[in-house]
Amino acid sequence: MDSLPNIRASYRRLSPLYDVLEGAIFHSGRKDAVALANKRAHQRILDVGVGTGLALPLYRRDAWVVGIDASPEMLKRAKTRVRRKRLPNVAALLEMDAMNMAFADRSFDAVVAMHVASVVSDPIKLISEMKRVCVPGGDIVVVNHFASSGGPLRMIEQACRPFAEVIGFRPEVRLMHLADGARLQIVQVRRVNLGGYWRLIHFRNTAPADPARLGA
Ligand SMILES: C[S@@+](CC[C@H](N)C(=O)[O-])C[C@H]1O[C@@H](n2cnc3c(N)ncnc32)[C@H](O)[C@@H]1O
Repeated sequence: MDSLPNIRASYRRLSPLYDVLEGAIFHSGRKDAVALANKRAHQRILDVGVGTGLALPLYRRDAWVVGIDASPEMLKRAKTRVRRKRLPNVAALLEMDAMNMAFADRSFDAVVAMHVASVVSDPIKLISEMKRVCVPGGDIVVVNHFASSGGPLRMIEQACRPFAEVIGFRPEVRLMHLADGARLQIVQVRRVNLGGYWRLIHFRNTAPADPARLGA
C-alpha cells in the first residue's frame, strides 16, 4: 500500500463489505490482542487503525479507549457500532494518520494495532509512533501477517506483491525487521487467526537489553 489518499480510497470501497470479509476470520486475533490490553484496570488504551470498530466491544468497561483511523468511512461504521452497542468506555474515534499521530508523548498505557502494519506505507514509522505515545513500561500489541521464511507460501506472497492495492495489504512485512526497527522488548510472539498464519507480537515499551553490555 502507499499514500494515505490511496489507503482512504481502498477502504472507502471496502468499508461496506469489511465486516463480512474480515470480521469473523480475524476475530480470534482481535480477542487475544485486546485481552493483553485488558490485563490492568483503568487503562488508557489506543486502538490504531480501529477500522469499523470490530474490537471495540471487547475492551473492558473501566478502560478509557481511543480509536484512530485514516478512513472516514471506516470510522463512521465504528461510531455507529459504539452507539448501537452502548460503549461508554470508547472516549473518542478520530481521523488521524497512525504514522504521524497528534497525541503527546506517553498518552496511553497500552497501544494496539490489529491488521494494520501491512497496510501502512512504513511499518517502522507506525511502531515508532506507537512507542512514542505509550508510557514507559506500557504494552504495545501488534497483530499482523508476516512474510513466510520460504516454501510455497513465500512464493505466493511474492506473487501477490503487485496486487497489494487490490487485496488491501502488503504480504511481505518481515517480523524481525519490525521487531529490530521497534527497539522494544518482545514479551511474546504467538500465532493467531486462520490456522496461525497471522502473528501476535506483545512488546513492552522498554528498550531491549544491549547484548554488548551483557557481555554477549
Ligand atoms: C485491515 S483494516 C483493520 C481494522 C481493524 N483493526 C480490524 O482488526 O478489523 C486496516 C485499517 O487501517 C487503517 N489505516 C491504514 N493506514 C492507516 C494510517 N496511516 N493511519 C491510520 N489508519 C490507517 C485503514 O483505514 C483500515 O481501517
